[in-house]
Parts: sequence; structure tokens; C-alpha cells
Amino acid sequence: MPVILGIESSCDDTSAAVLKDGFVLSNVIAGQKVHEAYGGVVPELASRAHQQNIIPVVSEALRQASVRVTDIDAVAFTQGPGLLGSLLVGTSFAKGFAIAGNIPLIEVNHLQAHILANFIKEPGVESRHPSFPFLTLLVSGGNSQLIVVRDYLDMEIIGQTIDDAAGEAFDKCAKVMGLPYPGGPVIDRLAQEGNAEHFLFSKPRIPGLDYSFSGLKTSFLYFIRDEVKKEPDFIRNNLNDLCASLQKSIVDILLHKLKKAAWETGIKQIAIGGGVSANSGLQAAVRSEAIRSGWEVYIPRLGFSLDNAGMVAVTGYYKYMAGQFTGLDTVPFARTTLS
Ligand code: KG4
Repeated sequence: MPVILGIESSCDDTSAAVLKDGFVLSNVIAGQKVHEAYGGVVPELASRAHQQNIIPVVSEALRQASVRVTDIDAVAFTQGPGLLGSLLVGTSFAKGFAIAGNIPLIEVNHLQAHILANFIKEPGVESRHPSFPFLTLLVSGGNSQLIVVRDYLDMEIIGQTIDDAAGEAFDKCAKVMGLPYPGGPVIDRLAQEGNAEHFLFSKPRIPGLDYSFSGLKTSFLYFIRDEVKKEPDFIRNNLNDLCASLQKSIVDILLHKLKKAAWETGIKQIAIGGGVSANSGLQAAVRSEAIRSGWEVYIPRLGFSLDNAGMVAVTGYYKYMAGQFTGLDTVPFARTTLS
């Protein structure tokens, strides 16, 4: 079985992971605090931080896995989608590593990697994995998609957002309330103490299996603006209820199309992935729908649902087994879809 080094640098996390004997032995992630002051990721700062982090992160991943550079059989890296400058750092590092070790290079689609995170095995950890075909709700800061997964490397997008992603809706609404970036986890925490029925926000009416979150974001913004005019302390006085109601709206939107997709495809194996899959409201809603509809639900643990290289290494493994390698002339793509 090949030993794979995975590299992830699509946004603001620099990550490296080692997969050996089918197990992810290390998954080191360096976040970037520099963006907090700006309320969002600043692309130029992200690429510079990746440059500083990449070598220490890879060294630490090799150390934790007790693997030497010369033990690596192939290097897999995130080719896109993501921020071009950030992707370039991981891509260039992976190319250099492949040349130095004279080993194959494997390009990995970030979205595919989020889905294949469901197949990560860790030593000493019991894990369940979906069987094919399964349906994935992939929700992150950049994506909201419904995907039918027929095999490890055979996936089809059947619905996606026509504007903002779910994570963006969380982050932008958090910014409106003066909460720090990334807003999703903060809203999730504050929502625990709030009444989700207190405020009602507009829901999109989009045909088919596509999503839309820009209407919700705008209605939230206008609502807050009008209420703050009447009551300057409105946000502070209602913070928990605002977070709970907003979270419920986003979760309802996500679940509505997930149920429709499950019903239309007849698939009952359901996986959720991407950063927003960590949301406690979404997890609870999917699990209770699972009881009602007889679904089997799969959610990677937190370290593998946010951006991480473990998912890149496992995708690299399946591509290695399928003989899908790439040349040194490969380039990153800011926008790519699942082929
Ligand atoms: O997958 P990810 O780490 O990065 C990409 O966008 O690729 O996802 C980050 C997104 C951010 O928008 C963040 O606010 C959101 O995931 N997020 C959450 C939670 N944890 C992370 N959103 C809602 N609830 C959470 N607990």
C-alpha cells in the first residue's frame, strides 16, 4: 500500500497529512489568525502565511506519522477550487517535493476530498463509512452542493447554490452583528441559548435542487438595520435569539433540498461534509430526519470536516490506486467543479 503525503492550502489553513497502510497517521493543520482583524480572509495575507507555514507543517506531519521523507510514495495536493495565491503555495511545494523524491504527483479536487473524508480511517478509531451510491450535502465557506456519489472517483452535482454558500451566509450575518470571523462557529455557540422561533427570516423559492442564500442575508441585514434604528442595543439585547433564528433558517433551507434530493434519487445513505457540517443545529436536524426517513447518516469528525490534508491524502490514495497521476505542468484553479 502506498504512503501518501497530502497537502491542503486552498484557503486559510495550511495542512499536511500522511496516509500509510490505509490509515491517516497525522493531520496537522495550521490556521491563520491574521485574518480575524479584517472580518474575513485576505487572500494576499493567506498566501504569505501559507509560505511561512508549509515546511513546518509538513515536517510535523512526517514526525507525528514516524515517516521519513524517503518513505513517501506519492504527494497529493489540492488543485482547486480555492484562492489562487493560496493554492499556488501548496501546488509549488508539492511539485518541488515530487521532483526531489522522484515520486508521482496527484492533483486533488477540494470538493471531492471533502466527500472522501467519509472514508478516512485512523488507527485505533472505529469508523463507519457510507456505501455507494450515497448522497452528500457539501456545505462550506465557498460551496453548498448536493452530490450523488456513485464511486470514490465518480460523483455528480445535482444541486448547488446560485449565489452565496451557506458558510458565507453564516459569516456575513455574523459580521452584521459585529461577531468575529469565522462567524459560523460563533453563531452556533450563541444559538444554543437562544429561541430559534423568535425571529422569522425570508426563505428562498428556488426551483429544483439548487440553493440560494443571498436573499436571507439581505433580509437579515435590512431587519437588523431597521431594528437598530428603533433600539440601538437591539443586537446585544437579542443576540442569542438572533443567532438561533438565523441558524434555524439556514438549516431549514439546507434540509429542505436535502430531503427533496433523497426523495427524488431514492438514496438513503446521507453524508454531510465541509465546514458547516460541524454546525450542531444542522447535525441535529439531519439526525432527526434520519429517524423519520430511515436514512443512515455519516459525518466526518471535526478535524476532517473543516479544511484538512487528511481528506487530500485519502483522495490521493484512491487516485493512486486508479493510476490517476499528473504532470509537473499542472496548475491550480480558483474555480473548478467535480468532473
Ligand atoms: O470547509 P471549511 O473549513 O472551508 C472552506 O470554506 O472550504 O468551511 C469554513 C466555513 C466557514 O464559513 C465557517 O463559518 C463555517 O465553515 N463553519 C460553521 C461551523 N464551523 C465552521 N458554520 C456553522 N456552524 C459551525 N459550527
